[in-house]
Amino acid sequence: MADPVTNVETSSARQDGTDDVIQVKDLHVHFHTALGVVRALNGVSFNIPRGKVLGVVGESGSGKSITGLSIMQLVPPPGRMESGEILYKEKPDTAKPLNILSLGRHSDEMRAIRGDDISMIFQEPMTSLNPVFSVGHQIREAIMLHQNPNEDEARAQSVDILQKVGMPNPQRIARSYPHELSGGMRQRAMIAMALSCTPALLVADEPTTALDVTTEAQILELMRDLQNDIGTSIMFITHNMGVVAQMCDEVAVMYLGRIVERATVDDIFYDPKHPYTISLLRSIPRLGTNRGQKLETIKGGVPDPYTTVTGCPFHPRCPSFMPGLCDTVLPVETIIEGKDHHTVRCHLYPGSTPEQVADGDGRVTGTSGTAPNTGRAN
Ligand SMILES: Nc1ncnc2c1ncn2[C@@H]1O[C@H](COP(=O)(O)OP(=O)(O)OP(=O)(O)O)[C@@H](O)[C@H]1O
Ligand SMILES: [Mg+2]
Repeated sequence: MADPVTNVETSSARQDGTDDVIQVKDLHVHFHTALGVVRALNGVSFNIPRGKVLGVVGESGSGKSITGLSIMQLVPPPGRMESGEILYKEKPDTAKPLNILSLGRHSDEMRAIRGDDISMIFQEPMTSLNPVFSVGHQIREAIMLHQNPNEDEARAQSVDILQKVGMPNPQRIARSYPHELSGGMRQRAMIAMALSCTPALLVADEPTTALDVTTEAQILELMRDLQNDIGTSIMFITHNMGVVAQMCDEVAVMYLGRIVERATVDDIFYDPKHPYTISLLRSIPRLGTNRGQKLETIKGGVPDPYTTVTGCPFHPRCPSFMPGLCDTVLPVETIIEGKDHHTVRCHLYPGSTPEQVADGDGRVTGTSGTAPNTGRAN
């Protein structure tokens, strides 16, 4: 309980928001299935500063892909955006950000944003490759839509980008259809397509998980180049903490449809606050670990998605569980003072409990204590 902290209602309140390419505010996405309701996202809020890479980590089912798909308005049925805002600002001087959720998901505006401003590398490559067109054709279409070159230039650029993503014999690959390629090659073709439109924001969902380490290194370098050369911001979803260290500026840690901690890469690795983040880091192998020594695992498993956990969603597995508080009260988001935008949702940090006094900016300052707070408990 060492750090002085301040509470905020959402992470977007901690920045003035003038140069965020995207701001997600209190996003709730539910799946209404025959077996019940899955609350995939339970009030997700975050921003991505322009030109930066935000890593998104968390166990399977925490809502990483659904967050990325929401930005593209591609949440599959029976998923529904229940509430929230996704504000997109194309350029720093754009007067008013566009609320993506105000556009129809099949509207022309949304289609234009998808192909041009924001692109996504999907966890499953066949989601974005069309089986009836050659790979080269699909990349050329993306290039022509965005840059308007002539056919020959587009053809040359498509072969060039296929080479850059490490394809052997890119001319031949350009003529191939998706089913003629291996899984890893399809992944690279999709990455080539996503990068060829030079987007303002790239949502990369486990982009290199299926690839060998050499190809992975090439792709990561390509994404870095894109970021440096044209200032693309990246939302980088991954399970690989090594890739996070290499690629990201900041990290958001997700658990059961919420962001439980957000900080710079250095703070996540060297000064993590949330018991979940600490457990997650302890469960990855490190150089220097003795062979045969068991890795620590996080106690228990992620709860069944149809159940709703009251209080802090991590309390059933938490080594620091405080009965009567963690199982009844949802912790609100708290800023760790003296840190560069470090926020956490955990009762260990005083201030996530009540007696909150709102200041002029809508921030609430809290003192430690045990009475229930006013955090949303949905
Ligand atoms: N089509 C669907 N129908 C019902 N529930 C779904 C559907 N798609 C996702 N979900 C639920 O939404 C929640 C979040 O899923 P999501 O795919 O975002 O997880 P993730 O963090 O990307 O996991 P992974 O690391 O395995 O890719 C999960 O509980 C999942 O079961
Ligand atoms: Mg996923």
